[in-house]
Amino acid sequence: MKSKPFPGLSTAPSFPRGRESGLLWAPAHAGATVLLVAGLLFAQSAFAMPTASRTTSLGPAELRATLASMPKGDAARGAILHRSHMCASCHGDDGVAPTGNWASLAGQKAAYTYKSLLDYQTGRRLEHGRANLMRVAVQVLSRQDMADLATYLADLPAVAAPVPESSPQTAKAAELLVRRGDPTRLMTPCASCHGARGQGGVNATPALAGQTVGAFTRAMLDYREGRRVSDAHEGMRQFSRRLSLEEIDALAIHYARLGKRREGAQP
Ligand code: HEC
Ligand code: HEC
Repeated sequence: MKSKPFPGLSTAPSFPRGRESGLLWAPAHAGATVLLVAGLLFAQSAFAMPTASRTTSLGPAELRATLASMPKGDAARGAILHRSHMCASCHGDDGVAPTGNWASLAGQKAAYTYKSLLDYQTGRRLEHGRANLMRVAVQVLSRQDMADLATYLADLPAVAAPVPESSPQTAKAAELLVRRGDPTRLMTPCASCHGARGQGGVNATPALAGQTVGAFTRAMLDYREGRRVSDAHEGMRQFSRRLSLEEIDALAIHYARLGKRREGAQP
């Protein structure tokens, strides 16, 4: 692919990364010590990788059984939980993440959200310190709570996320991977599983429409580098390894653009 990569998109999360960022940015005045200590404490609690042993992904049969036993969700109850459990504070009141630091959840398939929440609760998703934030957030949820939240979020409309400027070649490269895949690399078209408009596919195959560039890129890199092992069939771990960083950036932009346009928002 010829188009220019987007420096930073794939490699440098715009999120404070614990110790180094605290030291680097602490201003040199009286408040510095307080800020620094607060930063370090935050880094060590929320962002430090948990030491608990890591569980492997659900196998295909376990995944089927888990989805088959998902309780029927109540969207109205889910709406209340979304606020009372502070989900809205990171993922947005309407499930649309306010920045690329977080994932958008609006319009996500209920089965995938349900599975993801269980994966966090059981430690199956523990790819980095961010996943640990989620592990804490879901600790006290029952399966019924998870189903209610998932049903509520699935009903919300996906909204296009902001994207950096990109070239027509970038768009074209993504389009080809999405629609045709690449037989020379045994790449199945993304659309064959995630849907032609990124609306999601069968069972717990997630919607990608309107996902923030940040969350999308992190997911792909986490699969690629083997930190994220939540894909029951190991498909995403394999596909992500066959893609270049530039292609991952292009795909992130492609999917972020899908979804409803919000008035006044920069697409
Ligand atoms: C402190 C911030 C924070 C809170 C509170 C929070 N989340 Fe998250 N959530 C995250 C982060 C960070 C991720 C990891 C994705 C990423 O890299 O952006 C995530 C991921 C998820 C995912 C997986 C998304 C995906 O596409 O794979 C779901 C589902 C989710 N959160 C639901 C919830 C629900 C439901 C609640 C409330 C019970 C909640 N979150 C509370 C920060 C938060
Ligand atoms: C064979 C079916 C299949 C194909 C083809 C496929 N995916 Fe996936 N993808 C999945 C499944 C299933 C998951 C959920 C895995 C999990 O639970 O971790 C997933 C997860 C993802 C996620 C994480 C979503 C999130 O919210 O965290 C991203 C991003 C993604 N896929 C992008 C792509 C892209 C881009 C392509 C094409 C290059 C692609 N996928 C091709 C089945 C597929």
